Amino acid sequence: MKIGFIGAGKMAQAIISGLDKEKFEVYISSRDFEKTRIIAKNLGVNQAKDNIELAKFVDIVIMSVKPQVMPKVLSEVKDYLEGKLMLSIAAGLTLENLADLTSKQLEIVRIMPNINATIKESTTAICPNELVIDTNLEIAKEIFSSIGQIFQIEEKDFSTFSAIAGSSPAFIYIFIDALSRAGVLHGMPKDLATEIVASTVSASANMLAQSGENPWSLVDKVSSPGGTTVEGIVSLEENRFVASVIDAVTKTIEKDKRL
Ligand SMILES: NC(=O)c1ccc[n+]([C@@H]2O[C@H](COP(=O)([O-])OP(=O)(O)OC[C@H]3O[C@@H](n4cnc5c(N)ncnc54)[C@H](OP(=O)(O)O)[C@@H]3O)[C@@H](O)[C@H]2O)c1
Repeated sequence: MKIGFIGAGKMAQAIISGLDKEKFEVYISSRDFEKTRIIAKNLGVNQAKDNIELAKFVDIVIMSVKPQVMPKVLSEVKDYLEGKLMLSIAAGLTLENLADLTSKQLEIVRIMPNINATIKESTTAICPNELVIDTNLEIAKEIFSSIGQIFQIEEKDFSTFSAIAGSSPAFIYIFIDALSRAGVLHGMPKDLATEIVASTVSASANMLAQSGENPWSLVDKVSSPGGTTVEGIVSLEENRFVASVIDAVTKTIEKDKRL
């Protein structure tokens, strides 16, 4: 099966490096031919002469240009997409926007990977339009499963997903930094404290996933009666920790909806 990426930037390269090249024959095209030639060589994939040649040649087109460039690029290639599957990772462009920019008959899957695609641990949302047949949806899922975990969601939930999976790594980094800074306040070197916290955050997420328990029951398990942890938890609550996080997510969603 031939897959073509239009746009060969950070996200396309992250996806391509995770793909099984035995199974998928990968082509790329981008803005600058010479720059794209080097990227194709480094990734061990083929380069198309231009966006149109790529769209004509492949079975699946993955649109990986910036959202503001999408109208121009789709107007170039839309006549060559008939009967193909188009996947779009462009943030903020809905299935309806994409159909308006191409054709009402096109099978389109809207996809939202996150920054962790660069280490093949993306948390990716996927949503097909009503024309996508099951086998094509499975192919889209297979492509994005190669760079992490996928979640098929309703399109109305994309803004929420982009806050709790797209923006949340930034919130989590702030939390990690706050914990390690507290380590520094109490005399530990920053690098060491950050490494300790990152290891604890990663293991706690794995524990949650593997145990199948809900977060609060794990909080209770760490909190001995009259002990040290519950002292810290009460302090977090006095400082509106949970409410602050929820406010931050709500603000992020509201901003996304205004864009
Ligand atoms: N990065 C993320 O964490 C992330 C997360 C979720 C979704 N996304 C989405 O992924 C898409 C790509 O983002 P990115 O971070 O990979 O951006 P990027 O690194 O800037 O890549 C964009 C690519 O598009 C190319 N391009 C520009 N104009 C073009 C044209 N007319 N024809 C063909 N290619 C063209 C660029 O080439 P030049 O470099 O030569 O200009 C570059 O290779 C965006 O729509 C974004 O919303 C990104």
